[in-house]
Amino acid sequence: MSKLCVIGTGYVGLVTGACFADLGNQVTCLDIDPIRIEKLKQNEMPIYEPGLEQIVAQNVKSGRLLFTTDYVEALEGAEFAFIAVGTPSGMEGEADLQYVRQAAESIADLVHHPILVINKSTVPVGTGDWVADIIRKRRSGAPLEFDVVSNPEFLREGSAINDFMNPDRVVLGSLNRDAAGKVAELYSSLHCPILITDLRTAEMIKYASNAYLATRISYINEIANMCEELGADIQEVARGMGLDKRIGPAFLEAGLGWGGSCFPKDVKALAHMAVLHGTQPQLLQAVMEINRNQRRRVVYKLRKALGSLNDRPIGVLGISFKPDTDDVRDSPAIEVIHLLQNEGAIVKAYDPQAMDNAASLLKGVQLCRNSYEVAEGVDALVLATKWNEFKQLDLQRIHQLMRTPILVDGRNIWDPDRVRTLGFTYYGIGRGVNTHPNS
Ligand code: UDX
Repeated sequence: MSKLCVIGTGYVGLVTGACFADLGNQVTCLDIDPIRIEKLKQNEMPIYEPGLEQIVAQNVKSGRLLFTTDYVEALEGAEFAFIAVGTPSGMEGEADLQYVRQAAESIADLVHHPILVINKSTVPVGTGDWVADIIRKRRSGAPLEFDVVSNPEFLREGSAINDFMNPDRVVLGSLNRDAAGKVAELYSSLHCPILITDLRTAEMIKYASNAYLATRISYINEIANMCEELGADIQEVARGMGLDKRIGPAFLEAGLGWGGSCFPKDVKALAHMAVLHGTQPQLLQAVMEINRNQRRRVVYKLRKALGSLNDRPIGVLGISFKPDTDDVRDSPAIEVIHLLQNEGAIVKAYDPQAMDNAASLLKGVQLCRNSYEVAEGVDALVLATKWNEFKQLDLQRIHQLMRTPILVDGRNIWDPDRVRTLGFTYYGIGRGVNTHPNS
């Protein structure tokens, strides 16, 4: 059993802390937000994540997981201090490191025993060295025995616990391989490949992975847009591509593009780093531009179908940036809603989990209790997030409720032939109609 402190109880920190406790370690999670900590002590989760509440409750009960706002208490006797604080986008797309700095300074000021500082926050390449410098400088009078290890996270919202417990790989970067080796022991029971490398390389692996996944999505969306014009079906194209082992099937779902707390911020930060260091992030720029356009294309489709959208009631199903989360950060759905409002549309919307988080961002939107309420009287329905419950909708009832039966299936969840048979005008993403005479 090791003693861990996890600084930051956001997505990454909370999942990391709870899972390490579940693996048998003694973990104290620290946050500077007293309300958040108080709620966690009452087993109230600050985020919706399947399985998180149970794993937190079990480990709090067993005494292996504690929550505090007190750095002294959290760091006391800790062999490992994980930094898992937010790194929001700054004014020019750079990662804002103020919270990482605060965490590093607190460790420097309060720890008086050997410690490993592990960075889990997504930080620009070189930040590990910067953190080490901060600690070294503040402790110049009384040097602290420490090493910095970069340990990027690859958790997906909605499946974070499973991703933690069954990772494809664990990446550890440090200038001191022994230090990385000690962190590797924390993961040894997970039986996955552990890659030990240097600090900067580990930091780059995180950015390169996220940017690559975003690139795949923008790529398939670009191909989808061509499919629409050329009469091909992107679902089949993606399947055909994915069967090639060199390509693989994951992250080839065409739709309204990528959003969330990671991809937009990380792609932007990587492009920013490139420019800062004199290289041209041409591909990353295109990846971001395609993603922006993907959201706008919904509006073009609706304009094509309805003419002016001014005063048109339009329904939007799904607000979170993807299913199984209440996270609305950089959600394609929210941008689509804003674009529709800019056209003068009157928007109604519903999401199974994200209504509370979305409310303050959706001024002038009628938030409904379910999909059928959204459908009532609208001229078009836009499916923006791939929640399972939308797949099972009674489309006949939806058809009866709508004023004009137009569906824009932004995540390709419905069968075009079936919904057309029901009398809808259907627009998917990249689902061109094959007009070949023999088809
Ligand atoms: C991502 C990374 O997957 C994870 O490894 C990292 O640590 C954090 O960022 P997450 O933000 O939870 O995880 O979402 P993810 O499941 O990767 O999806 C990101 C976005 O891409 C979502 O908006 C999703 O709807 C979209 N997406 C995903 C597609 O449009 N098509 C796909 O094929 C896959």
